[in-house]
Amino acid sequence: MAQRLAGKVALITGGASGIGRGTAELFVEEGARVVIADINDEKGEAVANGLGKSRCRYVRTNVAKETELRACIDATVSEFGRLDILFNNAGVSGPLRSLKELTVEEYREGMDVLLLSNFMGIKHAIPHMERQGGGSIINTSSIAGIRVLPHTVVYAVAKAAVLHLTRVAAVHHAGSNIRVNAVIPGGIVTPMFASTSGAHGEGRRRGARTDQRVFRAQPTIKTGWRAGRHRRGCALLRKRCIAFRHGSSVDHRRWSYARTGDERRHAERSASSATKLSA
Ligand SMILES: NC(=O)c1ccc[n+]([C@@H]2O[C@H](COP(=O)([O-])OP(=O)(O)OC[C@H]3O[C@@H](n4cnc5c(N)ncnc54)[C@H](O)[C@@H]3O)[C@@H](O)[C@H]2O)c1
Repeated sequence: MAQRLAGKVALITGGASGIGRGTAELFVEEGARVVIADINDEKGEAVANGLGKSRCRYVRTNVAKETELRACIDATVSEFGRLDILFNNAGVSGPLRSLKELTVEEYREGMDVLLLSNFMGIKHAIPHMERQGGGSIINTSSIAGIRVLPHTVVYAVAKAAVLHLTRVAAVHHAGSNIRVNAVIPGGIVTPMFASTSGAHGEGRRRGARTDQRVFRAQPTIKTGWRAGRHRRGCALLRKRCIAFRHGSSVDHRRWSYARTGDERRHAERSASSATKLSA
């Protein structure tokens, strides 16, 4: 594999699982050294150990807490000497409740993880990137930030705001050789998706209905099931994923829905976009 990220240092939030884990694995394959910031110690350590201590470190970090996120960014720079890529990816589904059921406290908590963390990550990464002459920041938005899915109030609002934060940050830092982009996954089978869609576990009962609503709200999602279109979608994405993208978003909705539990394969597609945006 071409080492597109040779010599680069990346910080991936939510890197212990799903899309973040897939991205950490791909970044290391591409030659980067990676720090995983997460709150799931068991999974985070397992991913880091699997990738090798010299290439990957796990740092327990609650991204909703400024002191912890800042300390993790600073630790990345002390450990590996620089910070080239920040992947603001950690996320939670947030409470699946209607507006009138949702409490202000739940709204705040969700926003802290899904939106405030992105702002804080950008804020504290920028000085390091400016000092070294550039960098790449990638934020994970969602289909839910574009289409309204029932009962995803906090999640949807935060993910829409992530897209605009991406544009604002891109404009503000265009002169500093710091690129800021977003990826917009559709449905990718990960632990978070499963817990809300009913693929297994607690979400099963509620999720059967959620799946139907997702399909109705997002007609293009079905095209991802058809292999031919699926491949064309990937080819299109590759063509569009060029390294000078700035202030834009790579939209996976047309093809990223998957019915299998092979999270690595599907997460890799988001990871692959992140790689191209970082190279
Ligand atoms: N899976 C999908 O279908 C889908 C679709 C669109 C967007 N996304 C987004 O992709 C991103 C990754 O989600 P995923 O599907 O890989 O889920 P996941 O559950 O597999 O991974 C999320 C990771 O974030 C970590 N995390 C949660 N709260 C945290 C906190 N406060 N501090 C640090 N880490 C925290 C979790 O421990 C976990 O490792 C999220 O931002 C999610 O909203 C996912």
